[in-house]
Amino acid sequence: MAIRGDAAGQAFALPTDPEPEMGAAASRLDPARARMRRLPDPKPLTQHGPARIIAMCNQKGGVGKTTSTINLGAALVEYGRKVLLIDLDPQGALSVGLGVPAQNLDRTIYNALMERRTSLKDVRVSTDIPGLDLVPSNIDLSAAEVQLVSEVAREQTLMRVLADVRDEYDYILIDCQPSLGLLTVNALTAAQGVVIPLECEFFSLRGVALLVDTIEKVKERLNPELEISGILATMYDARTVHCREVFSRVVEAFGDTVFRTVIQRTVRFPETTVAGQPITTWAPTSSGASAYRDLAKEVLAL
Ligand SMILES: Nc1ncnc2c1ncn2[C@@H]1O[C@H](COP(=O)(O)OP(=O)(O)OP(=O)(O)O)[C@@H](O)[C@H]1O
Ligand SMILES: [Mg+2]
Repeated sequence: MAIRGDAAGQAFALPTDPEPEMGAAASRLDPARARMRRLPDPKPLTQHGPARIIAMCNQKGGVGKTTSTINLGAALVEYGRKVLLIDLDPQGALSVGLGVPAQNLDRTIYNALMERRTSLKDVRVSTDIPGLDLVPSNIDLSAAEVQLVSEVAREQTLMRVLADVRDEYDYILIDCQPSLGLLTVNALTAAQGVVIPLECEFFSLRGVALLVDTIEKVKERLNPELEISGILATMYDARTVHCREVFSRVVEAFGDTVFRTVIQRTVRFPETTVAGQPITTWAPTSSGASAYRDLAKEVLAL
């Protein structure tokens, strides 16, 4: 039986959790709430593939890339989409977050990237959620960054290996590591869209210009299809002036590129990592789960 975390959180209000119901006045004060829109329910699919490939990317660490990859993926599956998640970080947090003990695996994304005879089909695993598959990663992948340098068409390596499975899925989400190195460039070269998770705190804004510049370069030189799908505000806490101000500045700078969905800061997310499950199954009625469902609707509407 699947374990659910809902009950645990209902007993008491956590200090970092936003107030559940804010009145109209509070809504005026909260720039994220003011931008919220009702989104249409996605249409069911009659057939699957070829996948839209999205890189979840920000060279800043700990901004919610992995959390967003898992939970956007799981929410898309709830809407009947078939989803493949690619762990492109040698830390393997995506794999761990889905309960896959990747450190013990002999074959991971590393083998698919580096060995011509190994296909993604040989290394992918299914998760506890039907329709959600994973290509795991572990520390082996750290060697790929160096080894790929001498490969022919090194930036297109991931794109080539994804071709084997693209027709089976509706979405392929790539969880990038916190760097703009060759693996991340591979993700940007393979992708049609980039989602940029951005923590609502002052230093977050600094790196975005460099990231946007890298995305532009990849678009010009390697992948004309590439677009920014959206900037996703994460770890948002409407009660702090600082957080609201950072969010307003992000919207000022990037306008409609910022998703209307905002992910609140809540301890439910660290809990899900321990549980090895997405929030949509761990705490299906939580505000975090419904936020990622809203994000999935926005992504489906793009
Ligand atoms: N909305 C949130 N509220 C509170 N904590 C969160 C939230 N989203 C993520 N976290 C926690 O913050 C930490 C970093 O999140 P995550 O691993 O998703 O970031 P990341 O960008 O993938 O990090 P890295 O750059 O190291 O790969 C994790 O412990 C995660 O559980
Ligand atoms: Mg990560």
